[in-house]
Amino acid sequence: MRRFQAGLGLAAMMLTLGVAWAEGDPAAGQQLVMQGDGKGGAPCLACHGVDGAGNDAAGFPRLAGLDAGYLARQLRDYRDGRRTDPIMLPNAANLSDQQIDDVAAYYQGQSAQPTPAAADDSVLALGEKLVKQGDWDNYIAPCESCHGPDSQGVGSTFPALAGQHAGYLRKQLQAWQSGARSNDENQLMLAIAGRLNPQQIEAVAAYLSHQSIKGAGQ
Ligand code: HEC
Ligand code: HEC
Repeated sequence: MRRFQAGLGLAAMMLTLGVAWAEGDPAAGQQLVMQGDGKGGAPCLACHGVDGAGNDAAGFPRLAGLDAGYLARQLRDYRDGRRTDPIMLPNAANLSDQQIDDVAAYYQGQSAQPTPAAADDSVLALGEKLVKQGDWDNYIAPCESCHGPDSQGVGSTFPALAGQHAGYLRKQLQAWQSGARSNDENQLMLAIAGRLNPQQIEAVAAYLSHQSIKGAGQ
């Protein structure tokens, strides 16, 4: 009985900390990245690259160095229909939980260099201010208050934004504004994104794309 209670305590702690349940196998993940899932899903490298660098112009996000628990949750959300995207959906539709944990572990361990978006200094300065200090007149909390120092992410809950492609960041913020993305059950981004004007979206996306990537797996 005591051991059972200790187990429950541990389970509650893991839930609070957002620790992934299963350990993924990065070697099995790499195979999936290179060969696909054998059930019709394209090899992930076709869009995200073998190193997870993604591609700004094509709209493929960087996955390298993102927390494995965050990546796994997003993959389950696509697979189970909580997050929708016509291009990504077919690639997640047939993944098993083990395959998801494997590929998440693999991409967490990769590293990538940022591909900074071209932007004027004044735009970058506005982005930096929003990320570090927020815009309290409009009830916008600093992005770093949740996404962590230098926007490197905090655990599985708050993904790293540093070095993510500007086009993808912009698209996600617009997706919360339009209601197209609503898979976070706590809806923490909904209010923030809703208060950003187009100029602010442009500025944070550009600024964050210039930030260097430390990586959750490093
Ligand atoms: C045909 C191109 C394509 C392929 C192949 C592909 N993806 Fe994606 N992926 C995308 C696009 C586009 C998005 C952004 C979709 C959106 O805006 O929601 C995305 C988003 C993601 C995200 C969300 C990232 C984040 O920061 O929230 C994860 C995780 C992901 N893909 C993993 C994978 C894995 C693992 C595979 C292989 C099993 C894969 N993708 C194959 C195009 C692709
Ligand atoms: C109150 C906490 C909080 C604040 C403040 C916050 N975020 Fe987030 N953000 C989150 C959470 C939680 C997620 C993960 C949502 C999910 O799991 O789907 C997230 C996800 C994101 C994503 C998606 C990343 C990806 O890989 O798909 C972007 C982009 C983002 N936030 C941008 C911002 C920007 C820009 C700001 C500042 C203007 C900001 N956030 C402020 C909590 C916050």
